[in-house]
Amino acid sequence: MIDVAAFSDLEDETPVRVDVKGIPVCLVRMNDVVHALHDVCTHAQASLADGVVYDGVIECPRHGAQFRLTDGAVMAPPASQPAPLFPVEIRDGRVLVDPVPSYPHPFH
Ligand code: FES
Repeated sequence: MIDVAAFSDLEDETPVRVDVKGIPVCLVRMNDVVHALHDVCTHAQASLADGVVYDGVIECPRHGAQFRLTDGAVMAPPASQPAPLFPVEIRDGRVLVDPVPSYPHPFH
């Protein structure tokens, strides 16, 4: 697990881009939970951390695809492939991310 941030530095529903061993990862805090998605949109490679979060999804800033934070599933087009997720632990006030995603990113 890689230490990427202080939990207290994350604001609710405010995406943050971090580097996890060279992989761009988008962190999103939702109350006491932190989700970690691959930051590169599976549609045309925009940074999801520049998007907005609402109703449990993150919306890509470029073409508006929506990905569910809990599992990366596509909730709105034009993306057709889900966002890979990374396991997260919160320990001693730090956010730790496993650099191995749930499945490989389709083109990153
Ligand atoms: S780059 Fe994300 S929806 Fe097109």
